[in-house]
Amino acid sequence: MILPDDPKYAVKKVQVYVREIVDNELGFKQVSLSCPAKTKIYLFVSNEKMIVGCLVAESIKQAFRVLSEPGAVLPEGQDLLQHHRAWCCSTEPEPAVCGVSRIWVLGPRRGRGIARRMVDVVRSTFIYGCYLSTNEIAFSDPTPHGKLFATKYCQTPNFLVYNFISNN
Ligand code: COA
Repeated sequence: MILPDDPKYAVKKVQVYVREIVDNELGFKQVSLSCPAKTKIYLFVSNEKMIVGCLVAESIKQAFRVLSEPGAVLPEGQDLLQHHRAWCCSTEPEPAVCGVSRIWVLGPRRGRGIARRMVDVVRSTFIYGCYLSTNEIAFSDPTPHGKLFATKYCQTPNFLVYNFISNN
């Protein structure tokens, strides 16, 4: 875990990593993290000392619940990595504590519980002495992969989202 108060070289290095590897794959265009002072970055390091997962968590105040879309499935053959909006959400804000700004796992290591373990760690370490419930964490504008993961992880399709561009 890299905290805002950690040595500058460490924070800088991980920010460059997030920008070059994670943001690139997620299709993010922004160059820096929105509020580094409120951001904790989690890296999943494999036994071979390789970074195979990354999660950027930030402090948030509110989020919105994804609305169920009965029977909604992605058309066959659609590229899951294309970042089209795969969900709709309520317009009523709900209080929330921790936002998952980015979550990424190296392709060949996916489907082995790495993202799950990273979110578990965030829930137990983001606020000292407190284990956050899945109703206190939200996902930033989830990709289709992110939506499938969050639905499984939170055990509901109505998980919380934040930080998206509204179409209204
Ligand atoms: N499709 C269906 N289910 C999925 C899924 C997917 N793409 N990704 C995860 N899940 C489910 C798993 O089946 C698993 O369920 P289980 O615990 O009942 O077996 C659960 O979610 C946890 O999965 P886990 O193995 O911890 O996820 P992961 O390590 O493969 O990482 C992502 C998931 C989304 C982080 C990874 O696919 C990724 O990095 N994608 C590209 C980046 C991205 O889109 N990030 C999301 C930004 S919001």
